Amino acid sequence: MKSNDLNNGSVLLINESDLNQMVKIWNDFPEFFTSPGRTHTLETLKTWFQNRHQDYHDYYGYFSTNKLLGFMIIRNPSDALWIKMLAVDRSFQRNGIGRSLVDFIIRCNYSEDYNVKRISLQEKQHRLHKHRILPIYTECLIKNTNGLKFFQRLGFKIKKIDQIEGEILLQYQENCINSE
Ligand SMILES: CC(C)(COP(=O)(O)OP(=O)(O)OC[C@H]1O[C@@H](n2cnc3c(N)ncnc32)[C@H](O)[C@@H]1OP(=O)(O)O)[C@@H](O)C(=O)NCCC(=O)NCCS
Repeated sequence: MKSNDLNNGSVLLINESDLNQMVKIWNDFPEFFTSPGRTHTLETLKTWFQNRHQDYHDYYGYFSTNKLLGFMIIRNPSDALWIKMLAVDRSFQRNGIGRSLVDFIIRCNYSEDYNVKRISLQEKQHRLHKHRILPIYTECLIKNTNGLKFFQRLGFKIKKIDQIEGEILLQYQENCINSE
């Protein structure tokens, strides 16, 4: 697939049948995730996936012609949205896929019209609180300078640097209710 075939891609909830594709992308980047060095087998990822709602997690993928090219895990407790894991297939980076994934969650958060029906936990929250804009956070390892530049380009600002854990906490800033 060439990069110009990516225009018709879309962000969808990941199903269990997509996990074999997700595990390949995951295992290409374990050093960048905030649980550093954590690799998965299909079985361990399936266990995580099956228990995802206990941790308020939803898994989203960027799909182009049924091929998974990137994914993100969103943690969605009632008071915030956390982008926990985000990765794009190496061969398809710098084509706007990471941006599409992050934009999806920002648009879901900021627009009542957007197709939030596919967000299982946010839908519940919708019923509980009507529409409420939540702060969006992510964490990035200090050594992951590319990840940091990516999030800053998309409007995330550094909130805290934890030298002991080697992590940076970032918050999406535009119109954010909880920004200080
Ligand atoms: C970080 C990552 C998700 C970015 O995905 P991507 O699809 O390549 O990013 P995009 O093409 O959507 O880029 C979006 C914007 O960020 C910018 N950007 C992306 N990577 C960048 C980098 N390394 N340096 C500077 N800017 C960068 C792009 O130029 C683009 O800006 P523009 O639209 O104004 O041109 C991808 O590189 C990746 O999977 N990295 C490994 C895993 C990781 O580090 N995840 C993040 C921490 S969990």
